[in-house]
Amino acid sequence: MHKILSTSLLQGEHAVSEAVALLTQGECVGLPTETVYGLAADASNDTAVNKIFEAKGRPKNHPLIVHIPDVTHIERWAKDIPEAAYLLAAHYWPGPLTLLLKKADHISNVVTGGLDTIGLRVPAHPLFLQVLTELNGGLAAPSANRYKQLSPTIAEQVLEGLDGRIAAVLEGGACEHGLESTIIDLLSATPRILRAGPIAQAQLENVLGCPVAVPYEHVEVVPGNVKAHYQPNTPLAVLSPAELLTEVYNGKIADTQYVLSSSKVKEQVMQAAISDKQWRFLGEDAATYGSKLYVTLYELDKLHAKRIVVEQPPVTEQWRAVNDRLSRAASSTTDG
Ligand code: TXA
Ligand code: MG
Repeated sequence: MHKILSTSLLQGEHAVSEAVALLTQGECVGLPTETVYGLAADASNDTAVNKIFEAKGRPKNHPLIVHIPDVTHIERWAKDIPEAAYLLAAHYWPGPLTLLLKKADHISNVVTGGLDTIGLRVPAHPLFLQVLTELNGGLAAPSANRYKQLSPTIAEQVLEGLDGRIAAVLEGGACEHGLESTIIDLLSATPRILRAGPIAQAQLENVLGCPVAVPYEHVEVVPGNVKAHYQPNTPLAVLSPAELLTEVYNGKIADTQYVLSSSKVKEQVMQAAISDKQWRFLGEDAATYGSKLYVTLYELDKLHAKRIVVEQPPVTEQWRAVNDRLSRAASSTTDG
């Protein structure tokens, strides 16, 4: 049984030093990043890292990303670091890119879930960076949600999921990207994207000057990268624009169902066929849509929606991260 804690929301001028003090004592603290809120603990303290697994209810063989203050810390955590890592770090750190490298020998297996690799990133949120700089160390931080739930993009959602299970949450506003970082594996001969995110394949290829592979199908390369992840509680279906039109005109979208859209189709052809209340336009560009996706799914869960119908966004490289999360959210498979 986990210990019941009273979880405080840290805000104001002493918030960062309070977060640093708790982390130094080996506690878990929810911290804002530019992608989603993370549940942080001292990555070099196994007891602290174990508290993350406990608070989330996450299996211990699912590896955690380690967040570092800047690129100079990379050698403390990884070894045999290829030039590509430094190139990417120079372009995208601080930012939403996680580099998968060989872990340094002295790094504990607890944080890597028993793997001999380690995911590293420098997050761009100023408060997270301040905490890291003051600690001058690494923070393990998965998304700050209970296992298999949606990643939180505002502090309030962290509390909803983890209140009483962690020491504190640092208030840092709404996350800019709203989707988790891109993960690139630099261990294979051809670098490959393990998780699509805000930084797209073409951007990585431009910097590296070589092809970057993107698995077409979702591949579970490690425990934790499971298909049925990132799911709202409400059943979710992705329909083509034509299928959506048919459902709307056949009256199949009852008033307990909601539509997420990436186009102006309602204004153009649906108008009164479906109510404004059921319609959520998230944006015609992938970045705006991505920043609103999880927050909207949280909102609809709270409204006890019966079903969420998503208009299939364009199937292009720009939309890859959004489409990846949507296909997982729609997945009915479970992985135990
Ligand atoms: O944007 C993000 O990356 C957020 C913020 C908080 O930084 N973090 C995040 O962590 O999304 P998490 O644990 O929810 O997702 C990390 C993913 C998991 O699917 C995990 O399996 C994979 O990264 N991962 C971590 N370390 C790995 C490793 N050594 N090898 C392969 N995959 C790894
Ligand atoms: Mg997660």
